[in-house]
Amino acid sequence: MSYPKDFLWGGATAAYQCEGAWNEDGKGLGEWDEFSHKSPLNLNGATGDISSDFYHRYKEDIDMMVAGNQNTYRFSISWARILPEGRGEVNPEGIDFYNRVIDYCLEKGVVPNVTLFHYDLPNTIALQGGFANRDTVDAFVEYAKICFTAFGDRVRLWCTINEPKYYAYCTNMVGNYPPNHRQDFNRFFKVVYHEALATAKTVAAYHEMNLPGTIGVVHDNSNVELAPQTKEKELIKLRGDLFYNSMTLDTALKGCLPASLLLMMQENGFDTSYMKFEDSIAFAKGKVDWLGLNVYNRFYLTDYSEGETEVFHNNLGARSKMKEGIRIKDWFETTDDPTTHRNLWGREIYPQCMYNTLVEIRNTYGDIPVYITENGHGQYETADENGYVDDQPRIDMMQSYIDQMYKAMEAGCNVRGYYAWSPMDLYSWVNGYEKRYGLVRIDFDNPDLPRTPKKSYYWFKNLIADYFTNKAGR
Ligand code: BG6
Repeated sequence: MSYPKDFLWGGATAAYQCEGAWNEDGKGLGEWDEFSHKSPLNLNGATGDISSDFYHRYKEDIDMMVAGNQNTYRFSISWARILPEGRGEVNPEGIDFYNRVIDYCLEKGVVPNVTLFHYDLPNTIALQGGFANRDTVDAFVEYAKICFTAFGDRVRLWCTINEPKYYAYCTNMVGNYPPNHRQDFNRFFKVVYHEALATAKTVAAYHEMNLPGTIGVVHDNSNVELAPQTKEKELIKLRGDLFYNSMTLDTALKGCLPASLLLMMQENGFDTSYMKFEDSIAFAKGKVDWLGLNVYNRFYLTDYSEGETEVFHNNLGARSKMKEGIRIKDWFETTDDPTTHRNLWGREIYPQCMYNTLVEIRNTYGDIPVYITENGHGQYETADENGYVDDQPRIDMMQSYIDQMYKAMEAGCNVRGYYAWSPMDLYSWVNGYEKRYGLVRIDFDNPDLPRTPKKSYYWFKNLIADYFTNKAGR
């Protein structure tokens, strides 16, 4: 059936971006607390100290989702709220908080979809090298098992790591996320590898516990498309996929690393010494039950032209003309498609990537269930005197991506749910509160943090109603 009756429609958030309560009820320090409080690279000085204050207002926010017809909520657990030191002693108040959130979701008929790690390591673990240190793999599995034991009777959808590649990319290539390494390929590959291993070992541990749910990993969608002028088409496509996708997707969906990735790394002098032969067993045993895709853009590549390796990233929005992309010396470079637009942060808006990636994933990896775990539009926003925002560009953008998702479902892709990023305004990494994504406005200048649904909230509410009236079960 193309349109499942049990399709999930909801919104997604991450702990650091919405919870606030950064030092309350026994929570330990996270790497983002440290970064946002102390780093000169925190461009506008914003922090997640209070953020949307979801920690205290979760009921209000979940009520708003329910009133908007949403039947699922994807959120992440703060590792440092459960294990303040990263390992060892559990914080019972952290467990209580997530129990309250999960129970309230269930009471309201909302399916919780829980991510174990969304960018924010406990600071103690970060200081020991984070995912560049193999010990973090074991620490992560310990933490995951604590969560499975505490919440696994009620949570049916788990995700190990949000966007392993993008996290590694921003922390080691762009350098805008802590610990702010720049163009460090070795550290980039090592972090993605250890995240893949942590996913595999956690998936296997979850399956061994025989709990009544399923577990996946969330990948930042990275379908590689080639500009027509590209000369070495097969090579650029292969290199692009190996760089952006394979470590995460092949390990999670096929249970192994592609040999061509190792060859590419070794031929280019990259360290692979941390990859152990025995890990192949972990990968084989740790295949996920579903794949989450955060769909924002594609990677539009062509042949490398000239110049040194360079990463292009824009955290300044309209204050910069920088277009997001990369040039990797001797490998490939990203290029511009003159027919598409970019948002003010230099990221391409390309709805067709939704259809193209879903079809490509099915063709490459088979009939794996897929959730669109994030899709949304960041923009500057001004509210009227009632706090209302007419965010038509967000509606246009999201509708065009959803249309492409429907098209892929009609073509037989096994899509099970869609999550808007984000159900309410929240902190945007490095961009703070000037870049808004929410369907509900939060006035961060008002200490009461009042919530006001935007135009997109009502659009999404009607779209969900229409799905269940006209599409579900067709
Ligand atoms: C996704 C992340 O990559 O993009 C979210 O999972 C993030 O955490 C979202 O907020 C938008 O990115 P940004 O940097 O614009 O907030």
